[in-house]
Amino acid sequence: MAIQVTRQLAPSFGAQLDGVQISSNSDDSIIDAVRSLWGEHKLLLFRGQQVSEQDLVDFSRRFGELEIHVRTEYLSPKHPEILYVSNIKDGDKSIGILADTEVGWHYDQIYLARPAVGSLLCAVQLPDEGGNTYFADMAAAYDALDSEIKQKLDGRRATQSYEAFNRAYSVPTNDAQKKRSPDIDHPIIRTHPVTGVKALYLCPGMTTRIVGLDEAESRDLLDFLFEWTVRPEFVYVHRWQPGDCLMWDNACTMHRRDPFDQRFTRLMKRTTILPPPELATPF
Ligand code: OGA
Ligand code: MN
Repeated sequence: MAIQVTRQLAPSFGAQLDGVQISSNSDDSIIDAVRSLWGEHKLLLFRGQQVSEQDLVDFSRRFGELEIHVRTEYLSPKHPEILYVSNIKDGDKSIGILADTEVGWHYDQIYLARPAVGSLLCAVQLPDEGGNTYFADMAAAYDALDSEIKQKLDGRRATQSYEAFNRAYSVPTNDAQKKRSPDIDHPIIRTHPVTGVKALYLCPGMTTRIVGLDEAESRDLLDFLFEWTVRPEFVYVHRWQPGDCLMWDNACTMHRRDPFDQRFTRLMKRTTILPPPELATPF
């Protein structure tokens, strides 16, 4: 079956694709088509998937080198390229990151020097309710800004902090992990390394400060931008179904998740796709 876009997920972005099975041996023609649709739509939904960990790793790797997440305690024991997002416990130890609470708006790994350009997240076990994941189209949000604000942001950088995120939504990192994820500054307007699209590269969960502005001015501008980027016209809410996988463009969309009742079990598996080394530093 040929690949088809069967549904637009939100007015400005997101597409459901039929005709793709996430697997170890997908044809080059399928991978090329997915790569191009991923750039075009920024968020791809694959339904009815049956994906082994090997399939997930092999398929993801066709789009770039894979990140081994800094939170090694949540990696798949057999495939360290896979991060478990889950509230399942093994004794009193969580097997996954981001157990069952709300997770605030963020870009994956925006706090690294070579931040990921994509993530592929597959549902394995889902709660009966809650645990929806929201995406914001940060390119559309950038485009719609007043030119005065665009000018104000042009050339500016912001500080990204994994610690701030962990304080609000996760658990602290250990010393070695802290060393691997110190606060870092990136451009506020990011040009997509592959598609060239410009997007707002900041997020309520991890962006703490606009560099070069005084504290109050930085706070005001960030608060304005945080409210702006999550206006309903930029946001898509995903209500997960069994067999769903979502692949997002992590250079121009951010996401968040609803909490869910801890009596339910949720298990998701994620790979994280890196930009080519020569395009590693956001610009
Ligand atoms: C992620 C993430 C949210 C969710 O995997 O990067 O933020 O819905 N997940 O589990
Ligand atoms: Mn995430």
